[in-house]
Amino acid sequence: MKVATVVNFRELVPEIRDTGYLTHSLFYYPARFIPQIARFCLKNYTKGGDWVIDPFAGSGTVGLEAVLINRNAILIDINPLLNHIVPAKILFQYAYLDLHILQKMLDDMMQASSVYYRPAWENLEYWYEPHVLETLCRYWGWVKKLEGNPYQTILIIALLKASKRFSYAEHKTPKLFRSKAKQKEMHSLLQEDWGSALQTFIYKTAFDAYRRLTMLARLRENSHSTVLYYGGVDSADPSIFEKLEIRSKPVQTLITSPPYLQAQEYIRTSKLELYWLGYTEEEIKSVSRLEIPYRPAVGRITTPTLERIRGAVQRQDLIEILDSYFYYTIRSLENAAGIVNSGGRLCIFVGNPKMEGIEVVIWQVIAEYFQDRGYEIENVYEDEIKNRQLFRNRKNKNPEGMKSEFLLVMKKY
Ligand SMILES: C[S@@+](CC[C@H](N)C(=O)[O-])C[C@H]1O[C@@H](n2cnc3c(N)ncnc32)[C@H](O)[C@@H]1O
Repeated sequence: MKVATVVNFRELVPEIRDTGYLTHSLFYYPARFIPQIARFCLKNYTKGGDWVIDPFAGSGTVGLEAVLINRNAILIDINPLLNHIVPAKILFQYAYLDLHILQKMLDDMMQASSVYYRPAWENLEYWYEPHVLETLCRYWGWVKKLEGNPYQTILIIALLKASKRFSYAEHKTPKLFRSKAKQKEMHSLLQEDWGSALQTFIYKTAFDAYRRLTMLARLRENSHSTVLYYGGVDSADPSIFEKLEIRSKPVQTLITSPPYLQAQEYIRTSKLELYWLGYTEEEIKSVSRLEIPYRPAVGRITTPTLERIRGAVQRQDLIEILDSYFYYTIRSLENAAGIVNSGGRLCIFVGNPKMEGIEVVIWQVIAEYFQDRGYEIENVYEDEIKNRQLFRNRKNKNPEGMKSEFLLVMKKY
């Protein structure tokens, strides 16, 4: 088996100095990969005008990097948030919006009192102080009426951030949970002029989003890149790849980072945002059920490395996660790889977590599986984790014992 080459993607892509540059950080999203990795793959394994596919697109990092250097992208994710993120973060096309109009709209929103939007979430009071909730419902009610207005995108971005910032949910990490520290912080804020603090936050966030979005739109003024996106779609289900609009594209490269083995429940993490955007409990549950690796596997992947790990893990529940993880992750990768041209590449970015102290070398299992099906392992890069967004606010920076992450590059024949 190939030995990994240790690299530092930040150093390999020096033209990107800030991981949150342009519109990359407009939305909270867990376990985004740094744009340098997407850019590295795009630069090395595609050329101008090519198509790429990401079957676990998350917040669309691959899509944004693709359009910035004149590539086209197909993005798929089980999280319906993708359908809101892409039009804003990647495809925003209004380069010359008027800041004064935005200011006036923000003023009007804050004065408005007639229309309320209350998310259909039973648990709402658990997350908000009643007065704050009432104010947010009023702002959201006003903004939702602006359908088709380009300023609406900016206001929604600001309200999404404010709705988390002024809730009892911890906002410093993308994961959704009510922390003691945040409750304390909110209670002391409520003793003060919280209404002004909320308004200031919304103005600041909206102006920042305005600056980033119009900058993006100007950069893209002469761009002909296309992005097709499918949020709320299970990439392990082959039927999406049968669609003519996907099947007919000459896809050169797959670039993706699959979900973590045990760590995240992405839909749960995005619940607050999804409810404010108008999703119902039933809609959210129906996509949650398809999330990897929290659904029972209906088949089993076997490779030498996976058999060795499976034989060493004792707990039955962990074996089930392992089986589900590899079954659905590989199904998704295989479906997406199916539309990659021969001669094209698969670039897959994964960690090496531990289960019961046993290292699960994910890239090796994936490599063995695809090698058996005629793919060639071209390179394995090992990136030492530094400043991971996901772990920034944890004391234990390495909860699953992940020391590095790996970029596996395979060639399709
Ligand atoms: C590590 S994240 C990808 C993050 C992305 N690279 C970014 O920079 O934003 C993995 C993604 O896999 C998605 N996912 C989980 N199960 C899925 C499924 N069955 N079909 C499609 N996407 C799925 C999750 O919603 C999550 O967004």
